[in-house]
Amino acid sequence: MNKNENLTVVHTRSALRAEIEASRSTGDGKVALVMTMGALHEGHLDLVRKAHELAQTVVVSIFVNPLQFAPGEDFEAYPRTLEADLEKIESVGGAIVFAPSAEDVFPAGAPMVTLSAGPLGQILEGKTRPTHFAGVLQIVSKVMNLVQPDYALFGQKDAQQLAIIKQMVRDLDMQLEVVPVPIRREPDGLAMSSRNQYLNPAQREQALALSRALEAGRAAAAETKLPSAVIKAAREYLEGQPGVRLDYVALVDPLSFAPFNDGKSGTAVLVLAAWVGATRLIDNALVVVGK
Ligand code: PAF
Repeated sequence: MNKNENLTVVHTRSALRAEIEASRSTGDGKVALVMTMGALHEGHLDLVRKAHELAQTVVVSIFVNPLQFAPGEDFEAYPRTLEADLEKIESVGGAIVFAPSAEDVFPAGAPMVTLSAGPLGQILEGKTRPTHFAGVLQIVSKVMNLVQPDYALFGQKDAQQLAIIKQMVRDLDMQLEVVPVPIRREPDGLAMSSRNQYLNPAQREQALALSRALEAGRAAAAETKLPSAVIKAAREYLEGQPGVRLDYVALVDPLSFAPFNDGKSGTAVLVLAAWVGATRLIDNALVVVGK
């Protein structure tokens, strides 16, 4: 274990439990959990800042979860920057940082009992990445069980992941509150993501197509209020951009991810995914449609 005033780094489940027990017995007794795969940026730090507003004990997990990557995806290449991550966490108030090895998290190898995200795990992101959400739920439920937080914070950038985790918490009666945290963007609009590091300068420019497509969708919503026009505007924008290969554009209910068709009104989320070179990026924005 590595300890200074605001930062305690633990690498095993037993050390994590001991630190949380000790910390919970002081202060307000509340625990807030921020789960990450490391390579932290300001979007992650917003989660940690919010966690400090909610609870005295803040736990940040850093673990590149092999179960949520399919063969051929970027598990090996995913940036691992523990020392820099720890400095960033300390700069926003510190935490108990859980940075385990795969052997500590899954001592018996791949788990036998697994979770399914159900139908919500098979559409959009789940269509392109069919095993992804089961892998996410496996690690999220496990770390939630270890930490037993009062609050678990997740970024709105992964809108479908957020909806699925909320559903799991409801379906399994997990005794915690899921707290969504808004997307953090670069000054030019690109949503912050650890995967932005993969982009070369030309691709970094091309990647602006995603946030601009969302803007096109929002403009169409302001003009026509029609869900189909929102989708068309975002899709046409993305399809016209060099270096960008569209995966999907959809307008869905933020909780159920049911499609928002013409005739429906209210707040929907416009979600999209595209490849820029070999890098797959996602983004989303809330859009008000209908009457
Ligand atoms: O959003 C992420 O970074 C990951 O999916 C999560 C929630 C940390 C699980 O590995």
